[in-house]
Amino acid sequence: MTDQTLDPEEWENMRSLGHRMMDDIIDYLRDVRNQPVWKPFPDHSKEFLKAKIPEQGMPADEIYDEFKTHIFPYTKGNIHPRFWAWVQGTGTPIGVLADMLASAMNPNATIGEQSALYVDQQIISWCKEMMGFPEDASGMLLSGASMANTTALIVARNSVMPDIRKNGLYDEPKKPVLYMSTETHSCVIKGAEVTGIGSANIRMIPVDDHYKIKTILLEQQIIQDISDGFFPYCVVANAGTVNTGSIDDLDSISDICRNYNLWFHIDGAFGALARLVPEYGKILKSIEKADSIAFDLHKWMYMPYEVGCVLIKNQKSHRDSFSIQPSYLLSHERGLAAGPDSLNNYGIELSRSFKALKVWMSIKEHGIKKYAGQIEKNILQARYLAGRIMENADLEILAPVPLNIVCFRYNPGKSSLEKLNEINKEIGMSLQEQGIASPSSTILDSKYAIRVAITNHRSVRNDFDIFLEAVLRLGKELGAKEID
Ligand SMILES: Cc1ncc(COP(=O)(O)O)c(C=O)c1O
Repeated sequence: MTDQTLDPEEWENMRSLGHRMMDDIIDYLRDVRNQPVWKPFPDHSKEFLKAKIPEQGMPADEIYDEFKTHIFPYTKGNIHPRFWAWVQGTGTPIGVLADMLASAMNPNATIGEQSALYVDQQIISWCKEMMGFPEDASGMLLSGASMANTTALIVARNSVMPDIRKNGLYDEPKKPVLYMSTETHSCVIKGAEVTGIGSANIRMIPVDDHYKIKTILLEQQIIQDISDGFFPYCVVANAGTVNTGSIDDLDSISDICRNYNLWFHIDGAFGALARLVPEYGKILKSIEKADSIAFDLHKWMYMPYEVGCVLIKNQKSHRDSFSIQPSYLLSHERGLAAGPDSLNNYGIELSRSFKALKVWMSIKEHGIKKYAGQIEKNILQARYLAGRIMENADLEILAPVPLNIVCFRYNPGKSSLEKLNEINKEIGMSLQEQGIASPSSTILDSKYAIRVAITNHRSVRNDFDIFLEAVLRLGKELGAKEID
């Protein structure tokens, strides 16, 4: 046995490596606009990352050189001003520094009398303020909206089936059924599966031309299910669908839930944050009526990954769904084991990182008004892009643009559906491979759509001009006009 630790033998070497890293990070963030949005990951780096586990260590600065050669340059690119794929946030410099500090403190932010839990509590309070939830509601910071939605679905299920923690679903006399629109994110389907509801017991309600759930059909389906002996227990509404950013009629859904005694959950992964923009305050006001909401801070609050949030209006239902008291987690009246109620009583995770710090530092640095301004800017950019698409005869808008997502295609009007789908897919891949911009895609009514989802504080108007110019150039190069 030796007294060896994993700390550096020479602290000054670690300090100068840290300074080098910090310089590189700041340069990287400052100069990102001058870089290609994305570069393919080269084969030699893929091979490099297949090496067997090292038996012996190597100097830290050589590891950093390897990182700079094989890892750093081949990132996804979502910090770049022309990244609009899926729904991904950009992060901020202060968020990076906060994560570094959180890593240095390295607390397990679940239990104990420690600062991290009080920062966490403050962030949950701020999240409640943003969503108009009451002070006595409860909440958790989680890895993202998938976990936040699933956590809410667990609470929804447990609060209407109080014996389920003991008996499981086996004793339920009636099959519980869950309602959502066909546009709902796949993570909610997973949530229903892992909570034992089963995808066969999800009622996928059709949407209208604006991709909003048809509330008349929703109510009819609930009535039908009741008369068929099922147990309708929860509706998941969308505040910003993943495909098009559509916002369901939250007011009507809230009424339906109240009338039939169903849990009202909202997936507001990114759209819920539009509440901060005055124009959207009214349409998103009914978030306040929900029993629970899931949303992300790493999307439209631009925090570094990962951080999402779930809020549950009834704190008791939340705690009753997860609380457990093993002898090794007893809380004490004084000392380290005192402190706030363990967060282990509000979710599945026992170990948690100090996610709250980056949120705390970022919101304090910018103030909530600046965030509202950035969100509004992204919405206006989506409208600008949609406007430019609509005035160009070679481009076709494929869905309404209620928020920050634009779905369109290159279509000079002479090609078959199959050919157009092929060309537009090719345009999207070429934009990425040429490092110009990163949109993603979706399929709307069998049409391949180039999909631009703007949750990017670095984008400026000119970025959308550059993007459209490239789309038109690539469309022409691909010879779309000549193809029948
Ligand atoms: C509407 C919606 N819900 C849920 C999710 C899942 O969020 P996360 O990736 O943070 O788990 C997304 C992701 O884009 C989304 O757009």
